[in-house]
Amino acid sequence: MDKQVVFEELKKLKERAYVPYSHFKVACIIYLKNGEKIIGVNVENAAYNPTICAERAAVPQLVAQGYNKNDVELVALYTDSDKFGSPCGTCRQTLIEILDPNQKMWIFNKNDFVGEYTIGYFLPEGFTACDLA
Ligand code: THU
Repeated sequence: MDKQVVFEELKKLKERAYVPYSHFKVACIIYLKNGEKIIGVNVENAAYNPTICAERAAVPQLVAQGYNKNDVELVALYTDSDKFGSPCGTCRQTLIEILDPNQKMWIFNKNDFVGEYTIGYFLPEGFTACDLA
């Protein structure tokens, strides 16, 4: 996967974000091994609480389309930030529920590629299904 291509795709996608309140656009692309892409943008709400983050827009689509963690090549996240561009806590919990902790995740901010991480990096010792066993 080419970082510049991914960056361009994220920047194009983030323009679809519905952000009348924060004006902070976020885009998430889950690249699949079969070449398909699962996309999500943040969709805000006047009641604030129903706002959905880009990651939590994308992950349910992955599930609904019949895919699982074994189908995923890369998770890419863009935020309109000058800084790190970190996934929020709720999204970290959603990501680790459905995807592998070792799943590669690329973070981009408004300027550039920030770095390659894993889902588990963002939620060490996270609460998962095995904690219920
Ligand atoms: N947001 C995301 O889409 N993903 C995150 O991980 C962090 C926050 C969105 C929610 C809201 O629409 C805006 O960014 C500002 O918090």
